[in-house]
Amino acid sequence: MSLLLNLFFTGLIGSVLAATPAQWRSQSIYFMLTDRFARTDGSTTATCNTDDRAYCGGTWQGIIDQLDYIQGMGFTAIWITPVTGQLTGDTGDGTAYHGYWQQDIYSLNSNYGTASDLKSLASALHDRGMYLMVDVVANHLGYAGAGNTVDYSVFDPFNSNDYFHSYCEVTDYSNQTNVEDCWLGDTTVSLPDLNTESESVQNIWYSWVGSLVSNYSIDGLRIDTVKHVQKDFWSDYNKAAGVYCVGEVFDGDASYTCPYQEVMDGLLNYPMYYPLLRAFQSTSGSISDLYNMINTVKSTCSDSTLLGTFVENHDNPRFASYTDDMSLAKNAAAFTIMADGIPIIYAGQEQHYSGGSDPANREAVWLSGYSTESELYKLIAKANAIRSHAITESDTYITYKNYPVYQDGSTLAMRKGDNGTQTITILSNLGASGSQYTLSLGNTGYDVGTALTEIITCASITVDSSGNVPVPMASGEPRIVYPSSNIKGSTICA
Ligand SMILES: *[C@@H]1O[C@H](CO)[C@@H](O)[C@H](O)[C@H]1NC(C)=O
Ligand SMILES: *[C@@H]1O[C@H](CO)[C@@H](O)[C@H](O)[C@H]1NC(C)=O
Ligand SMILES: *[C@@H]1O[C@H](CO)[C@@H](O)[C@H](O)[C@H]1NC(C)=O
Repeated sequence: MSLLLNLFFTGLIGSVLAATPAQWRSQSIYFMLTDRFARTDGSTTATCNTDDRAYCGGTWQGIIDQLDYIQGMGFTAIWITPVTGQLTGDTGDGTAYHGYWQQDIYSLNSNYGTASDLKSLASALHDRGMYLMVDVVANHLGYAGAGNTVDYSVFDPFNSNDYFHSYCEVTDYSNQTNVEDCWLGDTTVSLPDLNTESESVQNIWYSWVGSLVSNYSIDGLRIDTVKHVQKDFWSDYNKAAGVYCVGEVFDGDASYTCPYQEVMDGLLNYPMYYPLLRAFQSTSGSISDLYNMINTVKSTCSDSTLLGTFVENHDNPRFASYTDDMSLAKNAAAFTIMADGIPIIYAGQEQHYSGGSDPANREAVWLSGYSTESELYKLIAKANAIRSHAITESDTYITYKNYPVYQDGSTLAMRKGDNGTQTITILSNLGASGSQYTLSLGNTGYDVGTALTEIITCASITVDSSGNVPVPMASGEPRIVYPSSNIKGSTICA
């Protein structure tokens, strides 16, 4: 192919994949710390002691080599941690292996590979019809030292204190000015807080973010520490990015978090995270809090179908650090995938990793041997498959707002999708020792006599003469019901 033609096609593919919120809504995201997912040498034994907070050797090339593993679970996108140049060396708080301590926003973190490796990752994903989401930080840089000792000349750009808020520590989360203008970090590693009200800082960030997206063919951004920057910074940032942006507003109060969706396409669904965790972290968790939060988020956020749904990430203890019950973990994962919004599964969740608070929750995924036989790997693959299939069967499925149709002390059922093409997801917190029984479920919207398939067990069931669905429950496992006629021709339960 001629160079010109080649450039033409590259440009074309790039522009087709610069993905919009509408395109992202139907994706499913696998999130990893680049340093902890896969190494270029393909090792499944290289040690990684999370307590050391040291680089363990994961790379962008390593991710490319494991895309089959990711795609095999039905994911259509990945989110990787920040790519920018970081402070180097070992501080008393460890190294910048996670990527949230940037100093040079125009260079890449060479521990993960070269610019060409990052571009290869984008094209390897695009070749599979998958999307690349990259984590970005606009609130702060990172410095190995206390806030009053910073040598600003090490930063590129932002190389003088004029670009920053004057030093004070974030101490009062009830004072939004304090949250926005003071600094995160500690006296070992401070996080110099950019003066995002300043026009020169805004101009640098807005032009930087557009060029980052285009230089590396990025399809979407995950934005760090959104609540630490004033709201009106973000509309133009999101616009300059030109792709779907999902922001981290680390707060479980929907009335605090949801308004940020007015300045950004999507948010990580922290309001749902807490009741989701509580519902399934033990057999006595509250189902009704989760039931209620589904409705609260829907009525408080401007579009629940553009939020990112998760029950694990690198900032919170792993689900399995609360309970080793496999059925409870399956229910939490099934909710994540079948509720409104874009599912986000954190690498290692599929292997039932159980690390507690940061840094213990940042285990190397290669040590699992990338088993595709683990219970959660298979459960996630099934749930992603039926979700993706339901999206192709009905063009209203993905914008249909999920709602709960049933609850009791240990069970929650929810519906997504218009009449005839809806999924009904039934979740339980009875745990693995839960008994076998049939739940007679009403309010599903299916007509009497409709043949249904339960996707987890592939059982065939029929809506009874009273319009109830006899759902076969066992061992506290989740269930997903879908009309049999709509999965004919697919590989699901074939
Ligand atoms: C809120 O925080 C700012 C910045 O730290 C501080 O100047 C102000 O006094 C605080 N307001 C209250 C009411 O504490
Ligand atoms: C993208 O590439 C352009 C042209 O080489 C460069 O000026 C710009 O700084 C790059 N942006 C980033 C974020 O690397
Ligand atoms: C779906 O079915 C319900 C109950 O049978 C009915 O009230 C509703 O109008 C139907 N919706 C559509 C979109 O057909």
